[in-house]
Amino acid sequence: MSDFPSPSRYDNMVYRRCGKSGIKLPLLSLGLWHNFGGDDVFEMGRATVRTAFDHGITHLDLANNYGPPPGSAEETLGRILALDLAPYRDELIISTKAGYDMWPGPYGDFGSRKYLVASLDQSLERLGLDYVDIFYHHRPDPDTPLEETMGALDFAVRSGRALYAGISNYPAEQSKEAARILRDLGTPCLIHQPKYNLLTRQPEENGLFDTLQEEGIGCIAFSILNGGMLTDKYLDGIPADSRAARLGDSFKSRLGDEAIGKVRQLNDHAHTRGQTLAQMAIAWVLRQEAVTTALCGASRPEQIEDSLKALDNLDFTEEELQVIDAILAP
Ligand SMILES: NC(=O)c1ccc[n+]([C@@H]2O[C@H](COP(=O)([O-])OP(=O)(O)OC[C@H]3O[C@@H](n4cnc5c(N)ncnc54)[C@H](OP(=O)(O)O)[C@@H]3O)[C@@H](O)[C@H]2O)c1
Repeated sequence: MSDFPSPSRYDNMVYRRCGKSGIKLPLLSLGLWHNFGGDDVFEMGRATVRTAFDHGITHLDLANNYGPPPGSAEETLGRILALDLAPYRDELIISTKAGYDMWPGPYGDFGSRKYLVASLDQSLERLGLDYVDIFYHHRPDPDTPLEETMGALDFAVRSGRALYAGISNYPAEQSKEAARILRDLGTPCLIHQPKYNLLTRQPEENGLFDTLQEEGIGCIAFSILNGGMLTDKYLDGIPADSRAARLGDSFKSRLGDEAIGKVRQLNDHAHTRGQTLAQMAIAWVLRQEAVTTALCGASRPEQIEDSLKALDNLDFTEEELQVIDAILAP
């Protein structure tokens, strides 16, 4: 592990501007939701993060609840920072979030200022950092006034705990309103984090992408491989070392005959492009103008190396897009 980080780490990565901000993000980012918890093998997670950074993946995405157990993915990154990445802190964009259930009682969930600020302080402690680059509200809260939640994001930035504010899983109209409140407070919304992949098209159908472009907000698409389903790994059953095997029925229920039949056709089409299905799925997300970066998960370093090859062919002809849509038509 002596030649870390690679001196050529910036040679091949492309960086896209995040909305109308000063920040550029790599076409691929790495998320630590799965595979980096206290129950996972630390050295595997460490090697995955190092491989990512070695290839110009400068953005690492977290949330307070990532693990399991909740909080442990932040602790894992804290250890990796201390061992490997601390000297390169200024080359990294590290994000975290709060919005899902994190601790007992009325102040450990959703969108109050009380919860968001306390959660961010806990995240910073686990990460061993003075600040994160992006702090997100993780999901809309139907009961807390949007002004309070956005006010908490603004406070996180003004108090130096975060450099930028983001929102995740917000629908188009609420994103517009959140952006207006944040703009009025003087802390523009940097980025939105929606789920978007070949099988999950809502952001293009419900106007979210249009809103983000109108508002000058960047977009980091998550679950771009639908948790691994948009790869060739489930074509012949469920490998023992896969997420489906680890999660059991909640994931396996997605892998019915009809779904796998479509995945098989997508896989065949990917080969006509000289790509694996994972690579085509990533390229397909990145073809969308509103998307700044594709947020990948990975259970081992080789997956990062494989996914990076998606960047060799990001172009789709109209005909190809129609073929893909026809495969996925209900
Ligand atoms: N904001 C939100 O609400 C939200 C929700 C979910 C996720 N996220 C973010 O998005 C990130 C990614 O989510 P995700 O893990 O669901 O993403 P994903 O990229 O759809 O799935 C990742 C999984 O796909 C498999 N994989 C990855 N690269 C591969 C390759 N090249 N070839 C074959 N298989 C490959 C691995 O599965 P195996 O483990 O089976 O090897 C990996 O764990 C999270 O870490 C988190 O940061 C955000």
